[in-house]
Amino acid sequence: MKKLTKYIILSTAGILIFASCSNKEQPALVYFPDMYYPVAYDPYQEAVVPYGEQTSTIPLFENQNGRTALAPVPGTIAQNEDKVLPLDVPEEYNAGYTASLAIANSPLNPANKKADLARGKDLYNKTCAACHGTVGDGQGTIVQSGAYSGVPNYKDRQITIGSVYYVIEHGRNSMGSYAGQLLPGDRWRVALHVMSEFKKTDASAVAIATTAPAESTEESTTQQQ
Ligand code: HEC
Repeated sequence: MKKLTKYIILSTAGILIFASCSNKEQPALVYFPDMYYPVAYDPYQEAVVPYGEQTSTIPLFENQNGRTALAPVPGTIAQNEDKVLPLDVPEEYNAGYTASLAIANSPLNPANKKADLARGKDLYNKTCAACHGTVGDGQGTIVQSGAYSGVPNYKDRQITIGSVYYVIEHGRNSMGSYAGQLLPGDRWRVALHVMSEFKKTDASAVAIATTAPAESTEESTTQQQ
């Protein structure tokens, strides 16, 4: 028994000594090196096999001249497809909101009003109506269920098409931002629907300074529908 204890102590000490001598910088053999040492590629960097003198390339990247960043999938919609720019107002929240209140016209092309209103209504019903209600009275299904409260009737708020746009983009008090759900052009279309349907305001009139050439809207409106 004593002998066995001695063996155990000696072999443990031996293992510890050897282990502490090994060079961790140069391990003799590494299984799955790409899991051990993950390779961080920069976007658009040429993809190379990082270990040793290998001649093989990475097939996925070979189709695109070795670029690591993949091309957008077909059908990807550009951030600013319809070239309607976001509101140009001060960055600070209150200053931005106040400035947006002065904006009474959308930059959408008035010639597309019918299509813009239809799209605005559709997106409003999908994005906003759960809280604000399809008639804008603040009594959406989520409010009626009792799960959420404090949604105003649009009639009780001083709003303009600019401020609705601003609130969609930045949120207001307990309402969060919907910029992640709606592209700038669609924010205007939803705001247009809110103003014309619930405030009975014709806010579709002529462009403000943030517009791109007017013809571009028609094409993309129809494209996105
Ligand atoms: C999760 C519920 C919810 C959703 C969804 C929602 N809102 Fe709101 N919204 C609120 C609440 C709550 C307020 C009141 C905020 C406050 O106290 O000022 C509000 C306020 C507003 C106001 C008035 C802000 C002001 O200037 O007084 C507008 C305009 C508005 N929302 C538009 C929208 C639009 C457009 C959408 C869809 C893109 C939307 N909301 C989606 C909850 C919601």
